Amino acid sequence: MKERVYISDLKNHVGKEVVLNGWVYNVRASSKKIKFLILRDGTGMCQCIYFKGECDESALENFGELSQESAVRVWGKVKEEPRSPGGFELSADKFEILAKSNDYPITPKEHGTDFLMNHRHLWLRSKRQHAILRVRSEIVRASREFFDKRNFTLCDAPILTPNACEGTSTLFETEYFDGTAYLSQSGQLYSEATAMAHGKTYCFGPTFRAEKSKTRRHLLEFWMIEPEVAFNDLNDNMELAEEFVSHVVQSAIKNCAEELQTLERDISKLENVKGKFPRLHYKEAAEMIAKENDKFVKGDDFGATDETIVSSKFDKPLFVYNYPTKIKAFYMKEDPTNPEESLSCDLLATEGYGELIGGGQREDSYERLLTKIKEHDLNPEDFDWYLDLRKYGTVPHSGFGMGIERCVAWVCGIPHVRETIPFPRLYGRNRP
Ligand code: 4AD
Ligand code: MG
Repeated sequence: MKERVYISDLKNHVGKEVVLNGWVYNVRASSKKIKFLILRDGTGMCQCIYFKGECDESALENFGELSQESAVRVWGKVKEEPRSPGGFELSADKFEILAKSNDYPITPKEHGTDFLMNHRHLWLRSKRQHAILRVRSEIVRASREFFDKRNFTLCDAPILTPNACEGTSTLFETEYFDGTAYLSQSGQLYSEATAMAHGKTYCFGPTFRAEKSKTRRHLLEFWMIEPEVAFNDLNDNMELAEEFVSHVVQSAIKNCAEELQTLERDISKLENVKGKFPRLHYKEAAEMIAKENDKFVKGDDFGATDETIVSSKFDKPLFVYNYPTKIKAFYMKEDPTNPEESLSCDLLATEGYGELIGGGQREDSYERLLTKIKEHDLNPEDFDWYLDLRKYGTVPHSGFGMGIERCVAWVCGIPHVRETIPFPRLYGRNRP
C-alpha cells in the first residue's frame, strides 16, 4: 500500500513508495528523458524526478500540463539526497492533476509591492511569505508557552469596548445598537481586572489603532500579547519582559532555522538576545538623541530615527524607563520621587527596529487615577469599573504589551510589518 505523506515527514519513509499531494511550484525539463517537478505541500518542497524507463510513460508525455500552482498528486519512491532542499527527493512514477491552474498571476519575475499586496491571498504561497508566517507561528507559540509555563492564566479581553485605552485620536468607532462602541486599542485595562482575580494573567488578541499614517511599523489591526501581574513594580516588569523576549527569540532561532535561512537572516545578530538587557533612564536616552538630532526636543516622545540613535549603540534590546508623565497614557503611575516622571518602560529592539514593547507600573491610587482621567479629557463615567479596581483592595501592579508583528519583522529581519501578518490592514487598504 502506498501511503499519503507530508513532505516534512519524508525522512521517515526513505526507500518507501509514497503519495504526495500538493501544488506545482516549478518544473524543469532538461531533456526528453528526464524531467523535474518541484512540488510544495505547505510543509516543504520536494523535487520529484521522472526518468524515462523508470517512470510511467504517460508522466513524461503529459509533463507539459504541469502549470504553476496546479494541484497534483504524485506517486514515487523516497530517496535520501543531501544536495536536494530538505535532504530528500522522489523517484517519481506518475502524477495526476487534481485541479489545473491557468495563468497564475505571480510568476518568478519581479512584481511591484502594490501588485503583490493586491494578490496577498496568493502571495502567501511564495517561499519567503511562507517562511515569515512560519516564524510568526513559532513566535506566538513560544509567547504562549512562556506565560503558560509560569502559570499565568489566559484571560482574553473584549474587542468591542466602551472606552479608549491609548488615547482618543486612534479609536475605531462602531455602532453598538443604540450607542457607540470602540474597537479595542489594548486589552490592558481588562488585564488589570483579571490580574486582581488571578494574580498573574495575560491576554492575547487583535487590537486596533486608526493610524492615519503609512509607516513601516504601523498596522491598523495588530496582535498584542499583554501580561499583567499584581504586586509587580516597574523593575519586576522589566525583568519579566526581558526573560519573555529572550525566550521568544531563542525559540525562533532554534525552531525556525530553515525559515530564517530562507529569509537570509543574519542569526548572529539575534543570538545575543538573552540575559540582562541594558536599562536607560529617559533623560540619558534623550541626551544621546539630542547630540545627534538637533530637531529633537528633550521631554518629547521619540520618533523612529531617535529610537534608532539610541538602540544602535547596543547589541541587545534596551529598556528606556521613566518617560515624562505628560507624554504617557493616563494609567501610568507617577514616580513618587518625581511626579513629572512616570514608572513607564519601553523596550527598543536592536538594528533600528524600534519599540517592541510598551508598559509600566499602573496608577494604583483611586484619587490620582481619577485626576489623571480628567486631566486627559476622558469621561470618568466610562471608567467607573476600572476605578473600582482601586476601591477594592488596590495593590501595585505592572504589565506590558508586545506587538507580535513588530517582533516578527525584527526576528525575520524584514523592513516592513505588512509582510508579518497573513492579511494586513493598512491605511488605505482593507483588501483582500
Ligand atoms: O505602547 P503601546 O501603545 O502600549 C499599550 O497598548 C499598552 N496598553 C500595553 C500594556 O501595557 N499592556 O503598544 C504596545 C506595543 C508596542 O510596543 C508595539 O509593539 C505594538 O504594541 N504596537 C503596534 N504594532 C503594530 N502597529 C501599530 N499601530 C502598533 N501600535 C502599537
Ligand atoms: Mg508605546
